[in-house]
Amino acid sequence: MSAAASWTSSSAKRRRLEGKVALVTGGATCIGEAIVRLFREHGAKVCIADIEDEPGQQLRDAIGDQDVMFVHCDVTVEDDVSRAVDAVAERFGALDVMVNNAGIAGNKVTDIRDVDFAEVRKVFDVNVHGVFLGMKHAARVMIPQKRGSIVSLASVASVTGAMGPHGYTASKHAVLGLTKSVAGELGRHGVRVNCVSPYAVPTALAMPHLPQGARADDALRDFLAFAGGEANLKGVDLMPRDVPRRCSSWQATRRGTSARSTSWSTVASQR
Ligand SMILES: NC(=O)c1ccc[n+]([C@@H]2O[C@H](COP(=O)([O-])OP(=O)(O)OC[C@H]3O[C@@H](n4cnc5c(N)ncnc54)[C@H](O)[C@@H]3O)[C@@H](O)[C@H]2O)c1
Repeated sequence: MSAAASWTSSSAKRRRLEGKVALVTGGATCIGEAIVRLFREHGAKVCIADIEDEPGQQLRDAIGDQDVMFVHCDVTVEDDVSRAVDAVAERFGALDVMVNNAGIAGNKVTDIRDVDFAEVRKVFDVNVHGVFLGMKHAARVMIPQKRGSIVSLASVASVTGAMGPHGYTASKHAVLGLTKSVAGELGRHGVRVNCVSPYAVPTALAMPHLPQGARADDALRDFLAFAGGEANLKGVDLMPRDVPRRCSSWQATRRGTSARSTSWSTVASQR
């Protein structure tokens, strides 16, 4: 049996999030959607919080049960984040897992002289301020509960340069720093704070950043070929569903541990 098949069959026997309540920002599509679906498979009650109403509502309807809800939420607007957290706590009675997944890359501009400053601000607004607001309002509910797990989507760009636009790289470094800072504070309340740093995953965010020279006819195949060529680990393609699988170790992480940034290699080795 392959490692992936073995993971699936063992996890099918043990639903790791039974009775838990999760909120996933940017949960309507791509990696966020994969997180929502896997969390639901593992028994969590899940709230999809996204700026895009139509795909969010479609995903809720496709899953089609009472334990999934959708709320419109722009993570750059504090009232939206606050309302989303309150709506989850009111409907499901708690908030156990907050996934700060919403993120944007900004345009592919490699020459800093051509970078639009307004766009860098926008990237920071979503990727850093949005994560900050998610942590702040999750903490508001989790501290009195004396339990909870906050997981933010960082990136390989959190630990290395030249893996994306300048604003994106800087913002993802900031997510790592914010995670360390908040982990140090919330551990004493029984709230774990971690981030996950995937390598390149073929999604709406990443696909436009494929270098021109690597583009041919089949966008997905070309993306995987390019990303695979650059990756240290060979022979596996990282797909959106592999990212939430990392949550198996989020669950295993000791309470109060400080920020961990998990790399693509680690994710792949767990398949
Ligand atoms: N795709 C990759 O290669 C990759 C690699 C490492 C890390 N990540 C990170 O994973 C996360 C998800 O990335 P993805 O590739 O699935 O992106 P995506 O663009 O495919 O999906 C992002 C989702 O976030 C939502 N969103 C955007 N702005 C929002 C806002 N202001 N408020 C609420 N929702 C908003 C979008 O509507 C969408 O549903 C991001 O934080 C990204 O930086 C992605």
